[in-house]
Amino acid sequence: MPHANKTEVLLSILQAQPVIPVLQIANLADAVPLTRALARGGLPAVEITLRTPDAMDAIRLVTDEVEEAVVGAGTILTPRQYDKVAAAGARFIVSPGTTIELLEAARSNDVPFLPGASTPSEVMSMREEGYSVLKFFPAEQSGGAAFLMALSSPLAGVRFCPTGGISPANALDYLKLPNVICVGGSWVAPDNLVRAGDWEGITELARQAVAMAASAQDRDISSSG
Ligand code: 3PG
Repeated sequence: MPHANKTEVLLSILQAQPVIPVLQIANLADAVPLTRALARGGLPAVEITLRTPDAMDAIRLVTDEVEEAVVGAGTILTPRQYDKVAAAGARFIVSPGTTIELLEAARSNDVPFLPGASTPSEVMSMREEGYSVLKFFPAEQSGGAAFLMALSSPLAGVRFCPTGGISPANALDYLKLPNVICVGGSWVAPDNLVRAGDWEGITELARQAVAMAASAQDRDISSSG
């Protein structure tokens, strides 16, 4: 698939959902009820990170069993992982940074890539590779919303999904920026609620995230009109 088409596929997923849950699945048995709970609250697209032994099986299981879910794979560090998560059904693939090897894997695979960048030079390199949609990671530690705002003029045309340290307290600061498509975060699926199997609590957190993001859009409309 041509690169431009992959970017369109990625954009259609990220633009549909301003908050993407970042999940670390410690127990495979949690994967289906957790992603169903998030989807019920309005967050069907999730990033399952490859940081636990069960992550690969979780991607496969949720892809097979949760029809409404849009499963992305995160923390991809090697070309082998890229190919494996794509084969497991991942619809988008996220990495904390980028390597030449990962860019090659992304080029030869139809599943779109969301590479990480956190400096102007990294953003420029990715732009040269044809990537106009990037993960900004680790967002808070790299300078936060003010840093991203400062990139919006010199690096216009590049848009970001910031993750790392984002919570209800600061998510709106990012979502209001012209160069932010969505934010990613683990706050909608906290460990204590997952361990307790409190799926209703997670649905409620998802609903709150959706409502918060809608308020950012309202503000955009009122400030532009
Ligand atoms: C990620 O992998 O994108 C981040 O680690 C998520 O960060 P958070 O746990 O601070 O939301």
